[in-house]
Amino acid sequence: MQSSRPTSPTDSPRIVVLTADPEFEDGVRATFATAARIDLHVIGGRVSQNRPDDFADATVVVADLGDAAEAELAALEQIMRRIGNDLQVIAVTQDFDGTVARRLMQMRVADCLVKPVAPIELVRTCARVANTAAKVTTTEAQTFTFLPAVGGAGVTTLAVQSAMLLLNAGTRSKTSTCLVDLDFQHGACADYLDIEPRLDLGEIEPRPERLDRQLLEVMLSYHASGLAVVAAPNRPAEMRLFDPDVVTRLLDLVSSHFDFVVFDMPRTWFSWTDSVLLGSNKVFIVSETTVPSLRQARQLLGAIRERLGDDVRPQVIVNRFEQKLFSPGLRRADIERAIGGAIAGYVPNHYGLVREAIDRGVPLDEIKPGNKVTAQLKKFLLAQADNKLGKESVAEKDRGPRNRGVTLGDGARSMIAP
Ligand SMILES: Nc1ncnc2c1ncn2[C@@H]1O[C@H](COP(=O)(O)OP(=O)(O)OP(=O)(O)O)[C@@H](O)[C@H]1O
Ligand SMILES: [Mg+2]
Repeated sequence: MQSSRPTSPTDSPRIVVLTADPEFEDGVRATFATAARIDLHVIGGRVSQNRPDDFADATVVVADLGDAAEAELAALEQIMRRIGNDLQVIAVTQDFDGTVARRLMQMRVADCLVKPVAPIELVRTCARVANTAAKVTTTEAQTFTFLPAVGGAGVTTLAVQSAMLLLNAGTRSKTSTCLVDLDFQHGACADYLDIEPRLDLGEIEPRPERLDRQLLEVMLSYHASGLAVVAAPNRPAEMRLFDPDVVTRLLDLVSSHFDFVVFDMPRTWFSWTDSVLLGSNKVFIVSETTVPSLRQARQLLGAIRERLGDDVRPQVIVNRFEQKLFSPGLRRADIERAIGGAIAGYVPNHYGLVREAIDRGVPLDEIKPGNKVTAQLKKFLLAQADNKLGKESVAEKDRGPRNRGVTLGDGARSMIAP
């Protein structure tokens, strides 16, 4: 089903063309025949017949949607969700249709072309999009890290729900968000989302240099919502210490391929914990509403300050909080006195709702829209995330006007230069 030219040097842009139209394929091959500086790869067949793994390393994908049937649009949507903001897609359709164009815009394709596509227009569009791809892939994710004050404080619950919130925080479409379960021994993220964990650090460890975008794709799991998850199968009886370089390499790779990354941290302090905290935009310590847990949270705040100085400024989330009038429980004033100014806020105790979400592997909002747990999390996260969501719109602007230029830019020139 597929044919390709010999591989060209690694710094050449890799243009992958998915098409079931022999005439379009011939046109593309003729167009790029003299372009020694691009690595063209034509994959025959419909978009819906391809697997994202086949072109995870593409700089630009030209997806020929033919008559833009629903199955083709849905397949492209799924591919874009899986590969995230790295994938620069140029959609090609048989005819112009306003509804289809709107749908493609919502998927955030880089550009759309309508057949017949003039060779110069194809080259120019690929060049512009490839230039944008170079900028986009270097964007760093916004990272949120959840650390436990005590066992069972609710770290996994809040990390999972936060990742879901960030995934849906975009105004026009889903963001690309990855949840990373760093509790290698007792991780529960995959169970809470009812998905199969696929991370195998043991396989990466002997040859960490193998860890690239393609291998990462193999080790990611996907929730039906589109949330990407890095999680390893549980090995409760095995206390394995992974090479910190492997873990840091994995985290760097994840950070450079998603808009948002959420870390679920274990209680034990590992050799890689410092770098995770230092690399996070926001660190939350999750505490129960009990005196021992708040005491542990305060000690953890002190320990982090001592180790990492003012570069990391963690804040405490008081989880399962209940304020009942005339009850003897802890009050906000007591908690604030104990923790000082480092309180991010309070998440209410809502056991029935949380349990149902965990049992069904779905976000809390799907069970009870507008619930108070999600509302609180939104307050902690979205003020930070606005920054990134704002930057996204700048990136969108960077993509420039759609295919209106009349002169051949430098990028296009270098692409067709033999
Ligand atoms: N806001 C909440 N309201 C009610 N129940 C909650 C809330 N947050 C978490 N829980 C419940 O607390 C329990 C522990 O939650 P979770 O597994 O998220 O904690 P954890 O800190 O990740 O635990 P571990 O130390 O095992 O990793 C779960 O049964 C979960 O349903
Ligand atoms: Mg947990």
